Amino acid sequence: MNSQWAIITGGASGIGLAIAQDLAGQGVNLVLIDVHAHAFEAIQAEFQALGVQCLCHQADVTQIAALQAVQDDLAQRGITARLLVTAAGILQPVEDIADFDLAVHERVWRVNYDGTYHACKVWLEPMRAAGQGAILVVSSIMAYRSSPLLAYAPAKAALNSLVAGLAVSAAADGVRINAIAPGFTLTKGLQQQIDSGQRDSSRVLSFIPMKRFVTTDEVARTARFLLSDDASAITGITLPVDCGWLAGTGWVTFKELP
Ligand SMILES: NC(=O)c1ccc[n+]([C@@H]2O[C@H](COP(=O)([O-])OP(=O)(O)OC[C@H]3O[C@@H](n4cnc5c(N)ncnc54)[C@H](O)[C@@H]3O)[C@@H](O)[C@H]2O)c1
Repeated sequence: MNSQWAIITGGASGIGLAIAQDLAGQGVNLVLIDVHAHAFEAIQAEFQALGVQCLCHQADVTQIAALQAVQDDLAQRGITARLLVTAAGILQPVEDIADFDLAVHERVWRVNYDGTYHACKVWLEPMRAAGQGAILVVSSIMAYRSSPLLAYAPAKAALNSLVAGLAVSAAADGVRINAIAPGFTLTKGLQQQIDSGQRDSSRVLSFIPMKRFVTTDEVARTARFLLSDDASAITGITLPVDCGWLAGTGWVTFKELP
């Protein structure tokens, strides 16, 4: 992977940043795209110290023109990215459909689904033309089970379907497209929610067979695997990284987790 370029949406924090840090450790140069620019300077300094190049772009993934502008900038610099990670995403409040604001519903779909679709639309073609590339979409375990997240979960399920469809369309062109479905992952955001009492961590942990949260490093290492040649025969899948949460959902119907 050394000296390749990877584009990461949502790369300024959480899972996207962890994937960027992991890839930087492999010598991969990075193009980070995020709607929030406040962390860019510190991130660039961190990656410079590791000896990899890092370009940061403030852009909103819901605006395809903004992503195309990033691609135009890369083309001007003579940079061709063979790796794309779509990690930009937002959560939603737990609401009944009667109370769920349509504008919030639309924004969750726009960022989580359209944002990834836009990135694939901009970067899949150059990869196909080059005859090589790997795309990794950050989905969620919520895609697989019933939940009160009435926009977030369906948007993530739609992403899994998109990944399978695009993977087939690009397979003969040498481009692989996969997704990961993280379980409850201990990002700074989740830690803040726990600390402020918005999230009951003991309730969440009681449904996780491994009795702990996923770490961002574990998600990043799985992402690295799917992006690497070690996964050269894998395309069109969504791989859960969830400390057993999906397996445990059937079990808890009968008895508490051991
Ligand atoms: N943390 C978890 O437990 C968990 C579990 C499953 C899936 N995920 C998914 O992982 C991804 C990353 O989430 P995270 O938990 O690291 O959250 P995070 O908030 O730390 O990271 C998300 C990043 O996306 C950026 N972003 C948001 N809207 C954007 C937009 N319109 N355009 C560009 N960038 C935008 C944010 O600024 C932020 O830097 C998301 O897709 C999320 O759905 C997270």
